[in-house]
Amino acid sequence: MATLTLQLLCSILLTISHLFCNLAETKTYIIHMDSSAIPKVFSSHQSWYLATLSSISVNDHLTTTTSRLIYAYTSSIHGFTASLTLSELAALQKSPGYISYTRDRPLTMHTTHTSQFLGLSSVSGAWPSSNYGQDVIIGLVDTGIWPESESFKDDGMTQIPARWKGKCVAGTQFNASLCNKKLIGARFYNKGLLANKPKVKISMESPRDTSGHGTHTASTAAGNYVKGASFFGYATGTARGMAPRARIAMYKAAWSYGVYSSDVLAAIEEAIQDGVDILSLSLGFSLDGNSLVDDPIAIATFAAMEKGVVIVASAGNDGPLYGTLNNGAPWVLTVGAGTIDRKFEGILALGNGMQITFVSLYPGNSSLTLLPLVFMDGCQSVEKMRRNKNKIVVCKDNLSISTQVANAEYARVNGAVFISNFPLSEFYTRTSFPTAFIGLRDGQTVIDYIQKNSNPRGSLIYQKTVTGTKPAPMVDSYSSRGPFPGCPIVLKPDLLAPGSLVLASWSPISAVAEVQSSPLFSNFNLESGTSMATPHAAGVAALVKEVHTDWSPAAILSALMTTASSLDNTFSPIKDKASNELPASPLDMGAGHIDPSKALDPGLVYDATAEDYIKLLCAMNYTAKQIRIITRSTHNCENRSLDLNYPSFIAFFNDFNSNSDAKVVQEFWRTVTNVGEERSSYTAELTAIDGLKVKVEPEKLIFKHKYEKQSYKLSLEGPKSLKEVVIHGSLSWVDDRGKYVVTSTIAATSIMPDSLLRA
Ligand SMILES: *[C@@H]1O[C@H](CO)[C@@H](O)[C@H](O)[C@H]1NC(C)=O
Ligand SMILES: *[C@@H]1O[C@H](CO)[C@@H](O)[C@H](O)[C@H]1NC(C)=O
Ligand SMILES: *[C@@H]1O[C@H](CO)[C@@H](O)[C@H](O)[C@H]1NC(C)=O
Ligand SMILES: *[C@@H]1O[C@H](CO)[C@@H](O)[C@H](O)[C@H]1NC(C)=O
Ligand SMILES: *[C@@H]1O[C@H](CO)[C@@H](O)[C@H](O)[C@H]1NC(C)=O
Repeated sequence: MATLTLQLLCSILLTISHLFCNLAETKTYIIHMDSSAIPKVFSSHQSWYLATLSSISVNDHLTTTTSRLIYAYTSSIHGFTASLTLSELAALQKSPGYISYTRDRPLTMHTTHTSQFLGLSSVSGAWPSSNYGQDVIIGLVDTGIWPESESFKDDGMTQIPARWKGKCVAGTQFNASLCNKKLIGARFYNKGLLANKPKVKISMESPRDTSGHGTHTASTAAGNYVKGASFFGYATGTARGMAPRARIAMYKAAWSYGVYSSDVLAAIEEAIQDGVDILSLSLGFSLDGNSLVDDPIAIATFAAMEKGVVIVASAGNDGPLYGTLNNGAPWVLTVGAGTIDRKFEGILALGNGMQITFVSLYPGNSSLTLLPLVFMDGCQSVEKMRRNKNKIVVCKDNLSISTQVANAEYARVNGAVFISNFPLSEFYTRTSFPTAFIGLRDGQTVIDYIQKNSNPRGSLIYQKTVTGTKPAPMVDSYSSRGPFPGCPIVLKPDLLAPGSLVLASWSPISAVAEVQSSPLFSNFNLESGTSMATPHAAGVAALVKEVHTDWSPAAILSALMTTASSLDNTFSPIKDKASNELPASPLDMGAGHIDPSKALDPGLVYDATAEDYIKLLCAMNYTAKQIRIITRSTHNCENRSLDLNYPSFIAFFNDFNSNSDAKVVQEFWRTVTNVGEERSSYTAELTAIDGLKVKVEPEKLIFKHKYEKQSYKLSLEGPKSLKEVVIHGSLSWVDDRGKYVVTSTIAATSIMPDSLLRA
């Protein structure tokens, strides 16, 4: 009977593609199971899954069954990963306890001075008052770690917390003695990768990082102090992580050959079991549906949140369009990337004493001194450039200069100046020969100088680092923007952290640049991405966790968000690099830029429990089956509420079918918990939002005890459909003694969440 159904299924599929019906071909699937359906005869979930697999296998030798069970999960999801043929998958769907399957999918990676920029100092503030995070364990799922990096030495570290259950797993060029009191755990996961790509030969089968990404994120979160760090003379100084005394556990699930959800699930699974306090995830999926059930990271981190783990994850680098955000589940702190108040420059000095600065990360040593300058218009001819290779050639084109750069490199000119207003990608700042990229106006100065002098000369000088640049931070263009299609009613991203050109440790076997056709290696690298912003926020979360061990993940998220700053270092609203440096909106930056010192002592928090998130899933009309997949248990959805107790607000005014001018009112209920002074009172302060009537009731909250809760209602009255894409303001609860300001961002938008879904 089963075979018959299958043949039927197969003939239907055959008309679509015969590939589907290669009955012997296996693919990798993640299977969700109802753990309460486990028959009593099985001592463990693993033995039940094995028995289930052997009952559906065509040739049920125990060995093949065992090798087909790739991972069994109990802590992150309930279920397993297996290689199955189409017929086995069909048979499995009739097995007791089966809930659903997903194909194992690939993910993408969201690829020193930052601590000072965040106001961290050893004299006062967040670092000393949190012991620099020494009792907190930060787990990272990433590309592995370079254990010999100075950032991971354990000088000054106390004993490893006794509750830690993790370990240091040996493998290629890696053994347990490489872990210490700083790097307390290291594991690796590649069974999913090998099941999906059986031909891959993994050269570094161990937690060792061949890419650099994991070493960078881990040292950003919790690296020890390293004096004299720099990238070839740029960004010189003492490098350290946000929580320099916190512990690091690396779960390597990202490989240069691919990153698979089954491996990431296995990594999160063991991180939960090992007892990490914070999970830092600089990777993610672009959802191809609008359901959290399609997002393995959202599902696995729900289990982590229930265990009290704070989850910090990158928003993605798919900006600046709305709705490009990843990792937006309400129990995850979703981090966007901001710029830093620092720039890296070179100088073009003309023979007449005039100096022109330009952005550069040219890593070579050779500064060029007073060489002849020659103007060559569009630099089309490699031949002509070759004849001038001992000079500095000057090329002008206001279109993309990529061909000219390639020509100049090919001609092996000594140095080149490219004149263009074309926006440059960061890639060009690391050219393999001395270059200067300057705008049309400065370019005209150079051309005039060359044309008016018989012996025009110039010098190119590098390795200039300028700090204190303004304005900073800005939302960087690549940072992914909200709303999150999987859960648009919660405002995302949550906040910004430094993400652009961050200096941190690197794998010394992974090239960071190329000079004169030779790869360059370094113990440090400057990298940009929400991947870099995430471990900054994870490190700060560790400082908060150190001081408030008993706080829930939601309370810690709240502390980070309500104390974030919406102003830059010129005291103006933070700007968006992608929209002509106009003020950024909450869909770009959430609550604003993270502020470690204030986050340690927020005054009030918006708390939430797993039950609250379940009420939200119920109100989003998730089916009982979908809720079981995410929560691993049954819920009858007796209580439903879309109004999660979240520290920010987003309201949709997008009823375009209605022509009426009638106003609509949207109401939000929130409950705050007093974590500040015993007796205190707070007064509501609202910023005006053009086009909306904003009201809060009551306008005063009075607390008599610590941990007392008080509730209030925020109402937004606006048009049925808003004319602007997004307008925003904020509600601050201001402590009457002036110590605390607890701010929530308010966004109103006309975006239709359904329109965000990618085809
Ligand atoms: C572990 O590896 C390190 C570095 O590769 C090596 O120096 C050490 O002898 C190894 N220890 C053991 C116990 O194998
Ligand atoms: C720069 O000089 C240092 C010291 O002489 C040398 O170690 C390094 O390899 C040089 N870098 C390049 C890119 O040539
Ligand atoms: C390039 O420059 C010329 C003249 O300066 C101008 O007419 C043209 O619009 C520019 N093109 C672009 C793409 O900026
Ligand atoms: C859930 O379903 C109810 C009843 O069909 C509907 O009124 C409500 O708008 C739905 N909620 C969401 C978030 O889709
Ligand atoms: C639903 O809410 C009521 C009232 O707050 C509570 O007594 C009950 O336990 C809740 N039910 C569930 C399943 O959480």
